[in-house]
Parts: sequence; C-alpha cells; structure tokens
Amino acid sequence: MSSISAPTGALDLTKLEPIFETYKKLARGSLIPVLQAAQEEYGYLPTTVLETIAERTSAPISQIYGVVTFYSQFRLLPRGRHVIRACQGTACHVRSSSMILETLKSSLGVTPGGTTTDQQFTLETVACLGACSLAPVMMVDNEAHGRLRPDKILEILDKYRRK
Ligand code: FES
Repeated sequence: MSSISAPTGALDLTKLEPIFETYKKLARGSLIPVLQAAQEEYGYLPTTVLETIAERTSAPISQIYGVVTFYSQFRLLPRGRHVIRACQGTACHVRSSSMILETLKSSLGVTPGGTTTDQQFTLETVACLGACSLAPVMMVDNEAHGRLRPDKILEILDKYRRK
C-alpha cells in the first residue's frame, strides 16, 4: 500500500484535540466521524494523524486502515489545488473519453488517483457526471467542460494553472 507513505511534514496534531473531545461523547467505536473530522481539518489523512487517532481511541491501527481503505470518501494522500474528474461513463466512452483520459494522463504525468508533483492537479475518474449530452465531459473543481477534444485539454489545464 504505497499511499501510506504520504508526505506528512510538520503537522499540527493539536488540531485533533477538539475532535477527540467530541469523540468522547460518541459511542465507543465511532471511528468514522473522527476520521471525517480529521480529514476535514487536514484535507486528507496523513499517517501521523491515523497513528494518533489509533492511540487516542485505543482502536488498532489495522482497524483504522481497514475503515479508510474501505470507504472511498477517505483520502490517504493530499489532493492538488484543482481536482479533475474525467468521466468514463457509457455516453462519454462512446465519444472517446478514453482519448481524453490518455491526454490528461500524459499532460499531467499522473494516473487516476494521482496528484502532480507541483500539487496543482489531482486526476480522478468517475462513472457519470450527469451531463451525458455534453459527452465527453470532465469537471475541473466545480466547472464542467463538455464536448472535449484532446487538443483542447492543454488549453483548459493552462487556464487553471494560472488561477
Ligand atoms: S456518461 Fe459521462 S456524463 Fe454521463
């Protein structure tokens, strides 16, 4: 599980204290709300945060990793400044979304789930963005980009790099 070696840097673990205070009031074993609150605080769940949660809640670290790897809402790696969600659903697939994804992968130098080394972009794939009439579609943050062509991708990425 390579994602466990996420960069941790100098994290301020005191931010967890109010979360543990709240946790005390919850039923024993309520790990999910603690993990959600910690992720909200740090943007993802660094190793040191998970270890501290294990220590303070007396939950085995294996149980914590079991939870965070089971639920897709949890992230073990930091996200980039912009999150790209490239649709791979049926409507987009028949309109060559795989070419769009290949262009994104080669332009960014990452595979889905990855973040660029400059922390600008995280690339994700989704099953449908609910905008099939605009296929192929991708979202960058909260903006939809439809009727994509591979030659448009660099232009779109540049716009976000400058933001
Ligand atoms: S299949 Fe891509 S938006 Fe629906």
